[in-house]
Parts: sequence; C-alpha cells; structure tokens
Amino acid sequence: MTLTLAAVPRYYERTMLDIYTLGEEVLTEKAKPVKTFDSALALLVDAMFETMAEADGVGLAAPQVGVSERLFVIDVRDGKRWVFINPEIIATSEECVTAEEGCLSIPGVFSEVTRAARVTVQALNVKGRPFTVEAEGLFARAIQHELDHLNGVLFIDRLDKDEHDRAVQAFNRRNRKRRTRA
Ligand code: NI
Repeated sequence: MTLTLAAVPRYYERTMLDIYTLGEEVLTEKAKPVKTFDSALALLVDAMFETMAEADGVGLAAPQVGVSERLFVIDVRDGKRWVFINPEIIATSEECVTAEEGCLSIPGVFSEVTRAARVTVQALNVKGRPFTVEAEGLFARAIQHELDHLNGVLFIDRLDKDEHDRAVQAFNRRNRKRRTRA
C-alpha cells in the first residue's frame, strides 16, 4: 500500500510511523516530486523525525514510511535537523570512501558501501524555499543513502551479487525468527 499526502492528516494523529521493510513494493518505486508545501507536509516531516529518533537512525526517506514522495530527513547528531525535499546532487567528489552502512528498512544487516566523499545538494525546505549544501563525512553518506531511497535503490543494491544475496538471507533469517517469537 502506498499512502498519498492527502491521507496525511488522519494518518499522522499517530506521530510514530510504521517503517516499511525489505520486500515492500514502495521501497523499490521511484518516488514522485513533492508539489504541495502545506501543513500536512510539515506534519509528515515532524513524524518522520520522531520515528527516526525512536528507531535510532540518522536518516529516513518518505518511501520508508510508505509515502512515495521525494523527501527525506537527516540528523547526524551534530545539532542540526535537515529536511531535503525534491533534492538533486549537483556536484560529487571524485574521491570515494568505503564505510559500514545499515538501513532502518533492513534491520540487523550491515555492509561496507563505497560512496562519494563529498556531495553538493540542491533541495527545497519544508516551506518550499531552495537551499544548497555541501556535505562530507557521515552527512554526505546519509544524503546519498536517502537519495537512493527516492529512486527505489537500497544500500544492498550497491553490493556485489554474493554480498547482496547474503544480506537478503540475513534479513530473512532475522525476520523469520521475529515472526516466530511474535
Ligand atoms: Ni535506508
């Protein structure tokens, strides 16, 4: 099921959102640009921050909460809360960095992923105003990871086939165990 922003006011009376996990179709779809900058969007953003904090994540993209629209939030615990709406990477460093990554939609699975060391991003804020930011370190990695979500790409899709299959198996094993316990 894919939610639309029209469903937001009813849905976000709960501030904690369900996080969709590997296997859900919305995670593989290309999300659509946000067109309306209204109070429903602001509520969605607030709920995404709360959900991300509760799940102990540093980034969360709208498709991960079932909303196939181009926005994500990031909080890399440096005192700033970032909202990126309709983001575009306009510059990428040639230098790359390999580091371990995980995803709230693939709990318990971590793998080394190679990403650009620095990116420059253009996006809109929650009021629809444009901004540009240059990012490096964990912030740059999180931006690239979340932007992938908007294009239906998960971090395990960036691994080679063997590693990808191992990650899916690990997720399925863990998921099966959780279901048995429930
Ligand atoms: Ni993710």
